[in-house]
Amino acid sequence: MHADILVIGTGIAGLSYAVRLGHLRPEKQIIMISKRDLLESNTKYAQGGIAVVSDFIKDSYEDHVQDTMLASDNTSNPTVVDFVVREGPERVQELVAWGAKFDKNGNALHLGKEGGHSVERIVHHKDMSGLHIQRALIAKAKSLKNIQFFENHSLVDLITDHHVPGSTYGRCYGAYVISKLDQEIVKITAQLTVLSTGGAGQVYAHTTNPSSATGDGLGAAYRAKVHIKNLHFVQFHPTALFPKINGNTFLISEAIRGAGAKLRNFEGEAFMNKYDERLDLAPRDVVSRAIYAEMKKHNTPHVFLDATHIASKKLKEEFPNIASSCLKIGVDITSDYIPVLPAAHYICGGIDVDEHAQTSMQGLYAIGECSHTGLHGANRLASNSLLEALVFAARAAKHSDVALNDSVLPNTFFTAIPYWKGTEDVSNQRTEQLSALRLRLQHIMSNHVGIIKSKSHLIDAEKELHEVYLATKKLYQQDKLTPQLTTLRNLVSVAYLMIKQAQEYTQNKGVYFNEDYV
Ligand code: SIN
Repeated sequence: MHADILVIGTGIAGLSYAVRLGHLRPEKQIIMISKRDLLESNTKYAQGGIAVVSDFIKDSYEDHVQDTMLASDNTSNPTVVDFVVREGPERVQELVAWGAKFDKNGNALHLGKEGGHSVERIVHHKDMSGLHIQRALIAKAKSLKNIQFFENHSLVDLITDHHVPGSTYGRCYGAYVISKLDQEIVKITAQLTVLSTGGAGQVYAHTTNPSSATGDGLGAAYRAKVHIKNLHFVQFHPTALFPKINGNTFLISEAIRGAGAKLRNFEGEAFMNKYDERLDLAPRDVVSRAIYAEMKKHNTPHVFLDATHIASKKLKEEFPNIASSCLKIGVDITSDYIPVLPAAHYICGGIDVDEHAQTSMQGLYAIGECSHTGLHGANRLASNSLLEALVFAARAAKHSDVALNDSVLPNTFFTAIPYWKGTEDVSNQRTEQLSALRLRLQHIMSNHVGIIKSKSHLIDAEKELHEVYLATKKLYQQDKLTPQLTTLRNLVSVAYLMIKQAQEYTQNKGVYFNEDYV
């Protein structure tokens, strides 16, 4: 297959990029690859919403910039923060024009509050903002004739000079992807390739991310020697529901703390006053570490979130998804405390990009959670991620529009790119062994590379991960590649980079906390 543009990943970043470019260049063909169905992405699970300045009386660009810088421990790139914050309102207006609806308070937008924000600033759709945005963008993208979708296909590798004998352009030429249905590896060539593959929370045993969030773009970029930065800045969300529901960790949005819910330990004590004057709405790294300390001190598997003093009508109206999910484990949020604990949530680092979302490899863009733009620094401010995705997707689309004129390779070049070479032996797919290796990797990361790190734990993690790497490599060399094996290979690459970059970082900033540097 060949397209002008290949977009890998169909969350808010990939879809909004494709919608914009699809409009700008109706004559150009765009192929979009989705690992599961089009709806399944980290975006779908974003409950809070989009942080954006909309009330210019109570809020200002300067305040949003300052909150972002403070949350990051002043490690964000100020230039990037400034343009993202200022371009945000226009991007959100476009989203509305494309079909997204946000909750209103009379004629004005209803604004939620989350940790680290000095004012109410989060535009949202109840507690299902991401799901609603995702649906609107899918409908919009499907209305464009020049976008073609391939669901249930995952990224195997980027196509680079390494795959093309004699080629020295130093560019990305598309990707090899694998179909979940028939396990066939398809070559998709393209003038421009966009990675919008989302997060990698699945390297941990407890994560708010769906099972598809396995860092596929990060793994493929790493193997293609594309520059990757700050993977040691893994943000843990303070409040994931305990226990899991059907094997998945359910997020309890920070917006509920914004509405007044309080964290309590097993003795019923509201403990955040011992840790930070901003109490329950301190930035996430502070709150997650406080919860961790309370769990350790009282030797409990979780703490509680108390929303019982909030009017039940408000809770049911504004948080219907949280209310119904908690009921599944027998918790009525209007009268019961909600059992919560921190879970891996967001990778603040990623594939390093410039202000147009260009990676270190020509012809390859990265947008959304898989990218590192400089906005989040060492700790992302709540609800800044959907904003970042929209702003950088728009910038990437504008840049691509020009690049499509400048850097077009001849069709004969693409047809000469070889098909994937690998063993065709389907006799032994070792499903159970692959599942066991994935579980082992998740436990290594959760036990040794969690909220509180140490030098010795990082060394243990490196050693234990090496065994998983060797086992995965052996399977890769001897077996037919399957989506499960491809995914494991990516998880191993991401976990390895997280450990190595954590070892290289020698101070405590934002979400990175190593007890040897206190
Ligand atoms: C939440 O709703 O708490 C998550 C929002 C985010 O991670 O930005």
